[in-house]
Formats: sequence, C-alpha cells, structure tokens
Amino acid sequence: MTMSSMKIECVLRENCRCGESPVWEEASNSLLFVDIPAKKVCRWDSLSKQVQRVTMDAPVSSVALRQSGGYVATVGTKFCALNWEDQSAVVLATVDKEKKNNRFNDGKVDPAGRYFAGTMAEETAPAVLERRQGSLYSLFPDHHVEKYFDQVDISNGLDWSMDHKIFYYIDSLSYSVDAFDYDLQTGKISNRRSVYKLEKEEQIPDGMCIDVEGKLWVACYNGGRVIRLDPETGKRLQTVKLPVDKTTSCCFGGKDYSEMYVTCARDGLDSKGLLQQPEAGGIFKITGLGVKGIPPYPYTG
Ligand code: BGC
Ligand code: BGC
Ligand code: CA
Repeated sequence: MTMSSMKIECVLRENCRCGESPVWEEASNSLLFVDIPAKKVCRWDSLSKQVQRVTMDAPVSSVALRQSGGYVATVGTKFCALNWEDQSAVVLATVDKEKKNNRFNDGKVDPAGRYFAGTMAEETAPAVLERRQGSLYSLFPDHHVEKYFDQVDISNGLDWSMDHKIFYYIDSLSYSVDAFDYDLQTGKISNRRSVYKLEKEEQIPDGMCIDVEGKLWVACYNGGRVIRLDPETGKRLQTVKLPVDKTTSCCFGGKDYSEMYVTCARDGLDSKGLLQQPEAGGIFKITGLGVKGIPPYPYTG
C-alpha cells in the first residue's frame, strides 16, 4: 500500500487580479485559465512552464475546450469562439442585452457538449453588486441559447454527476451548493434543492468540480480552501487549506487527472494582505489527494 502525502505548491506566480476557470487541456499538457478583470485568457504549459496570454476586449470569465479546435469563452455578455493561433474571437451569441451592467461569470461544458454559463451584475468591489440581476444560460452546439432561470446574484461553480443525471450549481450569495435533476438529452434541469450550506468560516462558495467518486470540490472565496463534499449525505468530507484567502476555482489535471489546480484572486486584498500572501493571484497545484478527476467536456458546436 502506498500512502498519499499531500503537497500544495504555487506553480505559477501570475498575479491574477481574479484568476478563474482552470481547465486542463491534455493535448497540450496545459492549464487554461482566465483573469476576469484583466480580460485575459492564459495557457500555462506544464512541461515548459511558459505562459501564453490573449487579451480580449471585455472581462473574460470562463474558457472551455472546443472539439473542432481552439476554445470557447464567455466575454462580457457574449459566448465567443477563440482561435488561439491568430488570437481572434468570433461572437457565437449574446445574452442579457437589456442589462448593460451585466457580465458573464463562471461557465463549463456539459457531457453533451453544451456550454453552460451564468451572469451577474458588475461589482463595485468583490461580492458587492446589485443583486438578482443574473441568469443561467447554455449555448447549444447549434449556437442557440436557452435560459434556465433568472434572479441570480453571482452565478458560479457548476458540474455534472458521473451518471449525468444531476447538475450541481452555485449561486454564491446563497451560500449553498444546489443540485437539479438533469436531462442530458434535452439539457433541461428541474427539482432544485440544496445539497450543502457553507459554514461561516468557509465564506463564499465559488468554483467547483467533481471527482471520479462523485464528490464535489468547492473553492471557498475568502475562505482560503477547497472543500470536498458528499452531495448524497450533505456532509463535508475534507478541507484543504491554501496559503491565499481568495481561492476562486479548482479543476483536476495533470497525469491521469490526479492533480488539482486552484486559481485565486489578488483584487480585494489590502497592502497588508498582499504582503502576507505574496502568491495571491497565482496558480496552485495540489498533489497526493488520492482521488482523480475527469477530463473536461469539449463544446461540440
Ligand atoms: C427577466 C429578468 C432577468 C433578466 C436576466 C429577463 O428576461 O425578465 O427578470 O433578470 O432576463 O437577463
Ligand atoms: C466572481 C468575482 C466575485 C467572486 C466572489 C467570482 O466568481 O467572478 O467577481 O468577487 O466570485 O463571489
Ligand atoms: Ca467563480
């Protein structure tokens, strides 16, 4: 028997204002991520340790793989296709046209190749914003958009159960991780319920990913940790603390998806916080967790 010994290291000191949406791209041995207010999509090559950065014309809140090549991203209130080679973006669809102060936030592709992403009002400071302005959408492979619901405060983490029958979702200011029944064929969701309520010290639930055992990993903004939850019992199974407070999202990657990557933010830290957390805004790698993740689904449109 081999014991797993956990290790947490900052693999890239990127100084992201708000690092988000980590996605492992196996084909390039790279981690994709965004810096929302810096309007950047970044790709860190885990072998060469080099980073490529593409600057967009609006805040970019999530990025995902695209089956036909390149990526898709949520930019401002637009779903876009991104050509990495020539750094060009093409708009696939626009949402919230009547809400001039809105932007997209977290997004992820479902097991059938639809790109789910939600919106929020632009913040005046982290987590300070006009409430209930957001909605949850998905971009289908034929480029049409469906809206699921509105009244969202900060649309955040999302993922699907291993059997594809449940959709997990976080509206951050509800301090809850929710579940819906999921119809993979139609992309319809129903029967919303809470599977976990965050404790005070866990702060604000942000990005999320699932592991092969069907347990949820949630990054806790201001909580400096990722937590592992059992959505069936509603219990927290594990807490992994990081040396930065503003942990925003997590994904599995690396060899066989055995490593976890965590993004975080610098925005919202005062000068004392920045001195105490010099790696804030960096990319963290956690090894030795003893559980694997699954490859990201690519957008099929
Ligand atoms: C709804 C609003 C909602 C908005 C979000 C509109 O269609 O009527 O309540 O906030 O969509 O985009
Ligand atoms: C948003 C940030 C927000 C944070 C905390 C992130 O997903 O992009 O703007 O401050 O969640 O709720
Ligand atoms: Ca987020």
